[in-house]
Amino acid sequence: MSRPHPSDEPANKPASSSRDLWRLIRTGRPSPVALSVAALAAIASVAGTLWFPVQTKQMIDGFGRGQIDVWAMVGLVAILAAAALLNAASAYLLARVGYQLVARLRQSLIDKLLRLPVASFDRESSGERVSRVVRDCESISELIARQAVNLLTGVLLLAGSIVVLLLLDVRLTLALIGSIGAAFAIMIPIAFLLDGLSRRIQDRTARFSGILTHIFQEIRLVKAFTAEPRERERSRGEIDGLMRLGLRVARVNVLLEPLMSLAMTLAIIVILVYGAARVAAGEITVGTLTAFILYIFNVATPLMQLTHFTAELQKAKGASARIAAILVEDEEQARPGTAERLPGQALEFHGVSFAYDGRDAAVLRGIDLRFEPGRTVALVGTSGSGKTTLLSLIERFYEPSGGRILYGGRPIGEFDLRQWRGSIGYVAQSAPVMPGSVRDNIAYGLDGEFDDEQLRSAARRAGALEFIEKMPQGFDTQLIEQGNNLSGGQRQRIAIARMFLRDPDILILDEATSALDSETEHQVKLALDELMRGRTNIIVAHRLSTVMHADRICFLDAGRISGMGSHVELLATHPHYARLVERQFRHPAEAESASELALAT
Ligand SMILES: Nc1ncnc2c1ncn2[C@@H]1O[C@H](COP(=O)(O)OP(=O)(O)OP(=O)(O)O)[C@@H](O)[C@H]1O
Ligand SMILES: [Mg+2]
Repeated sequence: MSRPHPSDEPANKPASSSRDLWRLIRTGRPSPVALSVAALAAIASVAGTLWFPVQTKQMIDGFGRGQIDVWAMVGLVAILAAAALLNAASAYLLARVGYQLVARLRQSLIDKLLRLPVASFDRESSGERVSRVVRDCESISELIARQAVNLLTGVLLLAGSIVVLLLLDVRLTLALIGSIGAAFAIMIPIAFLLDGLSRRIQDRTARFSGILTHIFQEIRLVKAFTAEPRERERSRGEIDGLMRLGLRVARVNVLLEPLMSLAMTLAIIVILVYGAARVAAGEITVGTLTAFILYIFNVATPLMQLTHFTAELQKAKGASARIAAILVEDEEQARPGTAERLPGQALEFHGVSFAYDGRDAAVLRGIDLRFEPGRTVALVGTSGSGKTTLLSLIERFYEPSGGRILYGGRPIGEFDLRQWRGSIGYVAQSAPVMPGSVRDNIAYGLDGEFDDEQLRSAARRAGALEFIEKMPQGFDTQLIEQGNNLSGGQRQRIAIARMFLRDPDILILDEATSALDSETEHQVKLALDELMRGRTNIIVAHRLSTVMHADRICFLDAGRISGMGSHVELLATHPHYARLVERQFRHPAEAESASELALAT
């Protein structure tokens, strides 16, 4: 049942990034109608812009002949206004197409990320994943929504201008193209320099925000270890680096702008001098010369836009290669489950072994285990022996590298994943909570509607009602990031309250009561005993008082089962277990349980 892991495939294929970009654009399903209308509006607007200097020429030539045509002037203004309006309409339409495309792209990227297996998230930090969805999609949106407009109008304007100019006067056109071309020959290397710098700024900004996220997420650790100066230094290194890059961009820019205006001025002077000579020779009119000077802008602006476009294209190509790498990753359950899941069957491990991706050492080796309905199996073992990993395999967070896990005799991979996980109640070791209210958290992931009475009852049984009612807005109190405004034990009780509503078939408790004081633990344990009745229960605990009443105890030792049986049996046969028991009960705080133990043995 193990599939090749997605990491076996090359993650980045830069050679095909143009194809990636094109595929992503097609995935976003841009509306052909909107695109055609936008293109037509752009063509009309460019036609207006092109016609404007020609009209000016005729007017000026008219002035030369002593005619003042008011209608021609009105027409001129009308053309300008119409061209501007059409240009705005086309830009808006294309921007709309672009933003819709990116919205779809983001949605499909998030859908994909949510369907990726847990193992995929072990490979890359969540910060980087966030930057895929936010920043990389933004580069593509920038390209489509803004630069594509510029490309379209720019190319049309450039081509149209050159045609009109050639019609007006061939020799002056060649002079114009020569002088503007020379100016651009100098500008292009500078533009590429700027492009490289802006990409480096992008990368460093991403790294900087990653570092900051980390620092503030773990602010307690930073403060507890008075590591503020260290983090300050680390941030300062990044801030300085960003500043230096910014200054280099500024230096290039201050150089570029005067160079630009100098080049434009030179081009105008060349045209003026050469043109005036030809006007004097009677070869062209003053109007034609004026039209030429106006066209300088029509030629220079698109050229500038084109250099911009290439820079943005490079960025978007890099971004789409990274997004495409995610989109080709294998999903959790590619095929729908076929087997029908009947409740109340046994769950069996047959020779299961497992190693985390990229690690040679197996975490679980040759595990044979049977979990029966209505019975409780406890997993014990030293820290790092693989207990949580074993539970993750039941949840199908990972697939075993060897052996089989069966439910009712069928491999668990054959059941529909949603249905499978829906039948399991899992209280994870860290008892995480999601951003949202206490109410949302207790009902998290459940389909039905729950009234206040059901929520209160679940909270009461989990020993959580008292502290929830003391919170400022009770069940409506918002829990922030990782439930920082709750204590560890309170988070655990919220997670347990969720189980009372969920009513699972298989109940998995990973250190679920480890953060509770013995008084609260006792109360919660009574409720849990009731919850566990009739279900398949799997509990992991370090505290033997929790474990010893289990029907069967399974001792894990570095990924292997080194002993199995009831508390009494293990005590007699497993020296490691006996030592563990002895050490825990010699502790004075556990004296009470020790007498309980004496009774049990
Ligand atoms: N996501 C992961 N990627 C790689 N290795 C991991 C991962 N999670 C756990 N491990 C490794 O697998 C081994 C078993 O970890 P596991 O969490 O199953 O231990 P555990 O028995 O639950 O320990 P504890 O009692 O401390 O909770 C450890 O050596 C750990 O370093
Ligand atoms: Mg664990």
